[in-house]
Amino acid sequence: MNCRELPLTLWVLIFVSTAESCTSRPHITVVEGEPFYLKYCSCSPAHEIETITKSWYKSSGSQERVELNPRSSSRIALHGCVLEFWPVELNDTGSYSFQMENYTQKWKLNVIRRNKHSCFTERQVTSKTVEVKKSLQITCENSYYQTLVNSTSLYKNCKKLLENNNNPTIKKNAELEDQGYYSCVHFLHHNGKLFNITKTFNITVVEDHSNIVPVLLGPKLNHVAVELGKDVRLNCSALLNEEDVVYWMFGEENGSDPNIHEEKEIRIMTSEGKWHASKVLRIENIGENNLNVLYNCTVASTGGTDTKSFILVRKADMADIPGHVFTRGMIIAVLILVAVVCLVTVCVIYRVDLVLFYRHLMRRDETLTAVVDEIHSLIEKSRRLIIVLSKSYMSNEVRYELESGLHEALVERKIKIILIEFTPVTDFTFLPQSLKLLKSHRVLKWKADKSLSYNSRFWKNLLYLMPAKTAKPGRDESEVLPVLSES
Ligand SMILES: *[C@@H]1O[C@H](CO)[C@@H](O)[C@H](O)[C@H]1NC(C)=O
Ligand SMILES: *[C@@H]1O[C@H](CO)[C@@H](O)[C@H](O)[C@H]1NC(C)=O
Ligand SMILES: *[C@@H]1O[C@H](CO)[C@@H](O)[C@H](O)[C@H]1NC(C)=O
Ligand SMILES: *[C@@H]1O[C@H](CO)[C@@H](O)[C@H](O)[C@H]1NC(C)=O
Ligand SMILES: *[C@@H]1O[C@H](CO)[C@@H](O)[C@H](O)[C@H]1NC(C)=O
Repeated sequence: MNCRELPLTLWVLIFVSTAESCTSRPHITVVEGEPFYLKYCSCSPAHEIETITKSWYKSSGSQERVELNPRSSSRIALHGCVLEFWPVELNDTGSYSFQMENYTQKWKLNVIRRNKHSCFTERQVTSKTVEVKKSLQITCENSYYQTLVNSTSLYKNCKKLLENNNNPTIKKNAELEDQGYYSCVHFLHHNGKLFNITKTFNITVVEDHSNIVPVLLGPKLNHVAVELGKDVRLNCSALLNEEDVVYWMFGEENGSDPNIHEEKEIRIMTSEGKWHASKVLRIENIGENNLNVLYNCTVASTGGTDTKSFILVRKADMADIPGHVFTRGMIIAVLILVAVVCLVTVCVIYRVDLVLFYRHLMRRDETLTAVVDEIHSLIEKSRRLIIVLSKSYMSNEVRYELESGLHEALVERKIKIILIEFTPVTDFTFLPQSLKLLKSHRVLKWKADKSLSYNSRFWKNLLYLMPAKTAKPGRDESEVLPVLSES
């Protein structure tokens, strides 16, 4: 197994609110209102037996020392080598001593006021420091009162995180936002009364003390297009350790350039406890001397340095339009193009409806400029030749009429032909050759039921191919409607 795959060994900091098995600290601070106890430290099980006389004494201020017994206060209980307070109060402040045979132990007790506006009392916090990414563990335990505790809650900055747990525990890799006050509150009953014991940790998360090799972000060489007379801001940013420095270097042989300014460095701590720094070099009123020289930005640490360079180059004339304006322009142009294409497509598809609508609106014939002469013959008077194609009507006389009409239409070009396929004609060989030259849009197909309604596409197309005529007012509409019969 590759040893790199092994997880890094992490320092583990465990903060456990265990009560000491005995009270060894000679000076003790405790918050009023909480259960509290003092326990003699050299108490063996042999000493616990009742027959050995044990005495507790208290003295405060100038007062004589007094022996304590359960009758001296209802809040005091004596169990072998232990003195219990249910709870401890401000007037319990003083010196305490324990005596058994010729053994003795002394303590100084200072009972302080509870902070009524917070879930914990600031003077009674245990401060711990943990490094970012190292293990942070908080376990709420109280071994002395363990058997009496009903429930325990864990608060962070007085907001409940976990509750009613036996031993609420937090175990994670520390992040900066884990910093704060963590309070373990144990609730317990004694003689029918509810008490609580609060233990608060002040957790400070500090950055990783191990150093990184600082790096500058972005490419090592940057060409910046500029215009003479304008200003430019060169932004140099780096990932670095707290004590590392970022600075700008540029040729100053001819004395310092009054148009070049180093702006204030901006630093932000990353979630890993490292720093993100950026420093801007501002060059005002760019001149020829500012072009094509190196502006270097360097980050330096004990671990090494890293440098990146900027070169100002004259902006090419064609690239005069700023990037965003150009992009926006392109988008607008494409949109307009798409709209035009759509419009044209719609016009082509609905050209018949559009023309009919136009005629209806204007009530005039836009084809009259193709002038119709006063001609004598019947055919010459016609402007349209309508041919209804149906096999059963294909007789010799009809063929003759058809041929002469076609001559007028195709040779003289005075008549336009409209071909109507009444019954589907699959075989066109019996038709005169010239008919095949007809433009496809001048061939209308009669589609049985579909074409019956005079709102149908068939009649619309026919109307479209016919010359327009001005509607004569006062005329009965039904007179001009096509009369159809199925034959
Ligand atoms: C703990 O007990 C004290 C009184 O001794 C009370 O003021 C406080 O509100 C209690 N805390 C909680 C979290 O119940
Ligand atoms: C908690 O720790 C922070 C950081 O070390 C410190 O500034 C603050 O004073 C501490 N708070 C208390 C109540 O001790
Ligand atoms: C807490 O414990 C006491 C006695 O030990 C019991 O009377 C009480 O019901 C318990 N409360 C809860 C919420 O468990
Ligand atoms: C410089 O660039 C960094 C990221 O590359 C950015 O976080 C920072 O805000 C920039 N500073 C300025 C002044 O533009
Ligand atoms: C800038 O950096 C380049 C390459 O690292 C170096 O050759 C040049 O001398 C530096 N110029 C200045 C003014 O520091």
